[in-house]
Amino acid sequence: MIILGIETSCDETSAAVAKITRGRIDIASNVISSQIDIHKQYGGVVPEVAARHHVQNIGWVIDKALQDAKIAPKNIDLIALTSGPGLITSLMVGAEAARTLSMAWKIPALQVNHMYSHLSANFLNNKIEFPALCLVVSGGHTELVLLKDYWHFKKIGQTVDDAAGEAFDKVAKLLNLGYPGGPIVSQRALSGDAGKFDLPRPMLTAPNFNFSFSGLKTAVLYQSQKIDAKNEQNINDLCAGFQQAVIDVLVGKTIKAAKKHNAKTIMMAGGVAANKALREALKTKAEELGVKFFVPEFKLCTDNAAMVTVAAYYLSQKKKTPKDNWKKIKVDPNWELR
Ligand code: KG4
Ligand code: ZN
Repeated sequence: MIILGIETSCDETSAAVAKITRGRIDIASNVISSQIDIHKQYGGVVPEVAARHHVQNIGWVIDKALQDAKIAPKNIDLIALTSGPGLITSLMVGAEAARTLSMAWKIPALQVNHMYSHLSANFLNNKIEFPALCLVVSGGHTELVLLKDYWHFKKIGQTVDDAAGEAFDKVAKLLNLGYPGGPIVSQRALSGDAGKFDLPRPMLTAPNFNFSFSGLKTAVLYQSQKIDAKNEQNINDLCAGFQQAVIDVLVGKTIKAAKKHNAKTIMMAGGVAANKALREALKTKAEELGVKFFVPEFKLCTDNAAMVTVAAYYLSQKKKTPKDNWKKIKVDPNWELR
């Protein structure tokens, strides 16, 4: 089976080809055109600008994915597209490209949820034991998803305000460090003392699996107003303290949920899962608990189309997609995992 994946939920235009033989998924190509350098100058993603660049890039990105994989359109069995959640104008570009190709090439098109794609990156080359728990942490979402198998999942917790990645981005912005915040703050944290500032661990002990990062961001703001911001060490210490507070909450709640639901596997996904300190902390705690731990390689944590092909493969095993499915393609910027 050959799947072409298309991803345009935010500011990465991506296309990938997966070749599947007897259940083994081989990612034959994964082309990612990132707009980070464009949005950097605005301090965050500007939806209208993102959509225009998707329009410019989607054609050559898909073409390159097919060429890199040495695949002709007639060999493709399924076109998978991200149809939500995400920025509506960005989603529409990928959806319309998929619709057009599906109609012209007469290949079924399958709509995939972006959060399910992120967590599916863990299915690649890993043997998942169920029930499994996945912490999905991205720029727009922070969710704990419990999976009974590959197809039955339930969100058991989420952020009540900012997402974890959003908190990294906002903290970097208020400290004038640039965009996106995650990689910059984590780099600064390497030379910082996480114990220097007293920062809160919001909702760590709350009797549910929800998260909140808005208060922590405000606490960083107050601390930043009290220190000499020209002193690089102070900034590094604040970054380290903030990152440690986020890690303590994410790891603490994930482990608590894993215990309560007797998870046999703990997984992590999404852009924030690229954070080295978080990966190490969750891995250590999962191993202490005696459960399997998986996190995708760095390139498959942030937005990419390879994870869309993996998600689509599993979904296609459950249900056949009709050839004229392109008629039903509809983007949903708020599509929730249920
Ligand atoms: O999953 P993603 O690429 O896009 C969304 O679906 O949102 O996630 C992007 C988010 C950004 O907020 C970025 O700051 C964060 O992931 N991120 C990180 C790291 N790398 C990216 N956060 C913490 N540490 C990192 N190393
Ligand atoms: Zn994402």
